[in-house]
Amino acid sequence: MARDAGTALIALVADVPPLALIQALAPLACATRLVLGFADASAALGAQPCDLILIEAAGTAHAQGIDLIAWLRAMPEHARSPIVLLADDVAAVRYAAVAAGANDVMARTVEPLDLITRVANLLELAFLRRKADHQARAMSRTLEQAVAEAALREREIIRRLMLAAEFRDDQAGDHLTRVAGCTIAIAEGLGLSEQEANDIALASTMHDIGKISIPDAILMKPGLLTEAEREEMKQHALRGYRMLNDSPSHLLQIASDIALTHHERWDGQGYPQGLRGTEIPLAGRIVAVADVFDALISERVYKKAWPPEQARRHLEAHAGSHFDPDCVAAFVSRWSDITVLIAERPSDTSAA
Ligand SMILES: [Fe+2]
Ligand SMILES: [Fe+2]
Repeated sequence: MARDAGTALIALVADVPPLALIQALAPLACATRLVLGFADASAALGAQPCDLILIEAAGTAHAQGIDLIAWLRAMPEHARSPIVLLADDVAAVRYAAVAAGANDVMARTVEPLDLITRVANLLELAFLRRKADHQARAMSRTLEQAVAEAALREREIIRRLMLAAEFRDDQAGDHLTRVAGCTIAIAEGLGLSEQEANDIALASTMHDIGKISIPDAILMKPGLLTEAEREEMKQHALRGYRMLNDSPSHLLQIASDIALTHHERWDGQGYPQGLRGTEIPLAGRIVAVADVFDALISERVYKKAWPPEQARRHLEAHAGSHFDPDCVAAFVSRWSDITVLIAERPSDTSAA
């Protein structure tokens, strides 16, 4: 007998009360739900799940029985319930019943012992299947939770890494926040998904991580850099890439691309590799626009902060030379978002 036969619910569908059937099933001690008449069976079975459905179709009612089986199989609640058809002429209906989704077809005159053995086996199968489904759902929930926790931890580690970097360059915080905000606006303007936009934005906060390798005398120099100092400063791109490169983390892979290529130019005149056009990874092209815009609207020892509209005109004037024109167009298309961002985090002091 099925492990859970005593707690199982069997739906019995028939035109007239199937007294012999009810009597034959009695040893299983299952709960039964009787549905009389095929016309109302669909509504009566409806969305109420049960462990097994027995359909007794006398005479020519087998056609209605087969229609009912097909209808039940289309219902999510009954898609996996065992269904048994009891008919007068098994040979005539077996193929159509199985094709409609029946698990078993028996003669209405089946021996009671044969009936309860086969029903008990189907209940056991349903029980094991439900158990397996339950375990699979539980495992899938656990896995989803573990993946979500790992993603949160990864993001937290990145934020803490950037906090550590800010200790060397304590004005960088708002610069990084504004660059990340502009990066999201550009990525969304380009039609990237929210997830992609958020990933590139978080990765953008590491674009200048290589600057932690630059001596204080250059990084904190209150005046203009000499040619040699500028060359040393340029090394931050390659050094940042080396710090982030070769990680299995998708975020760090984007971050290493950005660190390496955010000073490349669309026309090939940038550094460190002189990449051109779409040779530059998209994330690097996006952050180049966001980074330069924020540098322009920020005050430097050698220049005043530009008004945002003037900085936007600069980007538009250099679309196709310094910048990817699509990224500039995406930036301009999100101008209202960007003005809100600037108002929330004004750039009176900032780092490059
Ligand atoms: Fe940089
Ligand atoms: Fe920067």
